[in-house]
Amino acid sequence: MDVITTVREMKAYVRAIHQRGETICLVPTMGYLHQGHLDLMRMGRNLADHLIISIFVNPTQFGTGEDLSVYPRDFQRDRRLSGDVGVECIFFPDVEEMYPPAYATYVNVEGMTESLCGRSRPTHFRGVTTVVAKLFNICDPDVSVFGQKDYQQLAVIRRMVEDLNMNVRVVAHPTVRETDGLAMSSRNKYLSGEQRQEALVLSRALNMARELVSSGEKAAERVRQAAIDMIASTPETVIDYVEIVHPDTLHCIDVIDDRAVMALAVKIGSTRLIDNIELRL
Ligand code: PAJ
Repeated sequence: MDVITTVREMKAYVRAIHQRGETICLVPTMGYLHQGHLDLMRMGRNLADHLIISIFVNPTQFGTGEDLSVYPRDFQRDRRLSGDVGVECIFFPDVEEMYPPAYATYVNVEGMTESLCGRSRPTHFRGVTTVVAKLFNICDPDVSVFGQKDYQQLAVIRRMVEDLNMNVRVVAHPTVRETDGLAMSSRNKYLSGEQRQEALVLSRALNMARELVSSGEKAAERVRQAAIDMIASTPETVIDYVEIVHPDTLHCIDVIDDRAVMALAVKIGSTRLIDNIELRL
């Protein structure tokens, strides 16, 4: 297992791979790996000759007052877990390496970053697209895997790759859940035992919405309201948003007569959780 901390070394590493005519898959992460991350890596290992991950808690995607300073980290554990699933190299830069003092360039996808999570986290996606563009330039992957758990992030990254003609194929991995339905997240660690139980209302509300739609309900507002009612009746929950959107454009939908996604963000105590589900007729 190689651990590389500098941009210069990482570029030389991937150049040598490409010179041999071999391909690279990159799985970007912020570390504190869980089964969801590891499943992305297992998928990635079958998509290219070499599997590289990045571990970087990216400060530009955290707003003021968000959890950057307390975001969980455990590099030794991450290194062991990722080695076990076949990761050959971890790109593990520090903040100075990625954002030296003179740093001044940002990548911003307009429009679709302003709804859903973008409304309460106005600078978040600019930070995500900036760091992912940098990681693509540094690691030069042929393919990169992202989780559907962060549905808007995935759509925004796809848009960036297409708009900026980047030479990377973006592959989506379905949301990985605990056996009781809670979507895996590094932030689940913040939940108390009781909050962990309350958090189950997110996946329950999404499943209920899916059932409503599959049993014939087409009015998005009625489906949305049913989910809101269910979540609001659980203690300690504060809804940030519950929306039904088009899977590619993320525009809100009134009538569910084609593909649609219900996406939501809910605070349980001080922990903000997100989840989503595809709604099928
Ligand atoms: P992070 O939250 O560490 O997630 C890394 C990748 O794992 C993302 O593609 C995310 O969608 C995926 N992932 C997380 N939990 C998942 C789950 N339960 N099921 C499926 N996939 C899951 O997302 C980020 O980091 C950052 O924004 C990043 C893209 C690395 C840019 O900094």
